[in-house]
Amino acid sequence: MNLKDSYIKFFESKEHKVIPSAPIIPENDPTCLFNTAGMQPLVPYLKGQAHPLGKRLCDVQKCFRTNDLEEVGDTTHHTFFEMLGNWSLGDYFKKESITWSFEFLTKVLNIPVEKLAVTVFAGNELVEKDNESAEIWKSLGISEDRISYLGVDDNWWPNMDMLGPCGPDTEIFYWRSNDPVPVKHDPEDDRWVEIWNNVFMQYMHEENGHFVPLKQKNVDTGMGVERTTAILEDLTDNYESSIWKPVIEKIEELSNLKYEGENKRPMRIIADHIRAIVMISGDEAKIYPSNKDQGYILRRLIRRMIRYAKTLNIDVTSDFDLVLANLIIEDYKKYYPELEQNKEHILDVLTNEKKKFSRTLEKGLREFEKITNNLTDKNLPDEFAFKLYDTYGFPIELTMELASERGLNVNKEGFDELFKKHQEKSRAGMDAKFKGGLASTGEIETKYHTATHLLNAALKQVLGADVHQKGSNITSERMRFDFSCDHKLTPEEKEQVESLVNKWINEDLEVRVETMSKEDALKIGAEAMFIEKYPDVVTVYFIGDVSKELCGGPHVKSTKELGEFKIKKEEASSAGVRRIKAILK
Ligand code: ALA
Repeated sequence: MNLKDSYIKFFESKEHKVIPSAPIIPENDPTCLFNTAGMQPLVPYLKGQAHPLGKRLCDVQKCFRTNDLEEVGDTTHHTFFEMLGNWSLGDYFKKESITWSFEFLTKVLNIPVEKLAVTVFAGNELVEKDNESAEIWKSLGISEDRISYLGVDDNWWPNMDMLGPCGPDTEIFYWRSNDPVPVKHDPEDDRWVEIWNNVFMQYMHEENGHFVPLKQKNVDTGMGVERTTAILEDLTDNYESSIWKPVIEKIEELSNLKYEGENKRPMRIIADHIRAIVMISGDEAKIYPSNKDQGYILRRLIRRMIRYAKTLNIDVTSDFDLVLANLIIEDYKKYYPELEQNKEHILDVLTNEKKKFSRTLEKGLREFEKITNNLTDKNLPDEFAFKLYDTYGFPIELTMELASERGLNVNKEGFDELFKKHQEKSRAGMDAKFKGGLASTGEIETKYHTATHLLNAALKQVLGADVHQKGSNITSERMRFDFSCDHKLTPEEKEQVESLVNKWINEDLEVRVETMSKEDALKIGAEAMFIEKYPDVVTVYFIGDVSKELCGGPHVKSTKELGEFKIKKEEASSAGVRRIKAILK
């Protein structure tokens, strides 16, 4: 049995309910591009809302972290990864959490206790030193030498700056080396690698900077599937593990090269990126490559993959990318059925972006000819090397190769400097987006969220019952709503929809929530976008008697709070899908 299946089975035996992975692109949270941790979709429940499935949950969550994009290529970094997690929502706390982690590692995975070490929280002004966790670890057989007491930089999750639920944690480390295991744990020795993090989530870091105790004490744990799998298979290169083996073998076949020496880096990049591309474009949000947000990340991943495929002399005009994508879809569809459902979209995204990229590649080459013909000396300006990278997606290696064919010099340091500056800028922008990720949904977003339900109901009344939501995106400035419809709305239809929503707002309808079985929710005719994605017990939001929808919230209490609803635009989104952009005034 693989790690994911054993983990879920173990926590089911400890009375946890399995929840499906949330989409990798958070729903209705414009402040956050991707889910970066298993707890992210659970924030409302960590804050105290009752979860329909109870107080003990576990899952495998699709996660994506862009901060590591440029690092991919070594033995351990990935952009997309899977995180195993188990949660207590105001139920068990340190004793059970630590004891079960220990039991799973040593009894199910059969990791020798001699290879384990842990860190616990050293204490600060909010929370005292975590002697309790240390004592529990000792009672299980972890010696004092293998326990390090560290401060907020190491043992507070996520960190003291991010908003949202947080708290001290205890981290579990594994000795990943053939060298003899030292008696004492040394947090500076990177042969000790972290495999599991158990967070004792007791605080809400509010926007005003205060740490307010949560209504309930929670446990949030996270274990990375890729790293732990490699460890269990006794490997120091994650990409040699059973998770990556089929993909690396396929890349070897496509390139006619072996996974060795300097081929390893490009092969790892291709393997990582194709999996991430499949997961992002296979998500319900149906992302397309673009110059913004998730679409931009998707574009970068595809172009970077193509560039590295070129370095391995893979014929990039062939369908190598589709072959690899199909392999990933087959491999993961058991856990993420949406990949199979969205297969056509995934393959279209790859095909179209590759076409676009070949065009810029040609344009870049023409630009290269033009500039180099007009040079007065033999040095290619740094700014031009960077422009080729930034605008035309040329890797510096390609520019250097082209330059040397013409006897020109490229100042690599100059390029690196510009590159670094650019990276710092884009990272700062990204960090800002990610920081917001754990923040609670703001008041205005909450209003838009409720308006979305009203719009959905109004469209049904005006256009017919077979109109369904196909997507939604909310920012603090506007809402966007995609729905199935075979024609452009007439001015009258638009007008009717708008006044219906405003009529309901003015009637000051009550918004209430009820928990029920999925079956009952369907019976009463509640709207649901991806019914198969919901657990067996669901929350349904009712707005007066005009709308009932499966939804995790949050929503306003009554519709009057919404103000005035105005449709700004109605346009085509894709075949059979229309898009409305609207605002609240
Ligand atoms: N949320 C914790 C983490 O990501 C478990 O490490």
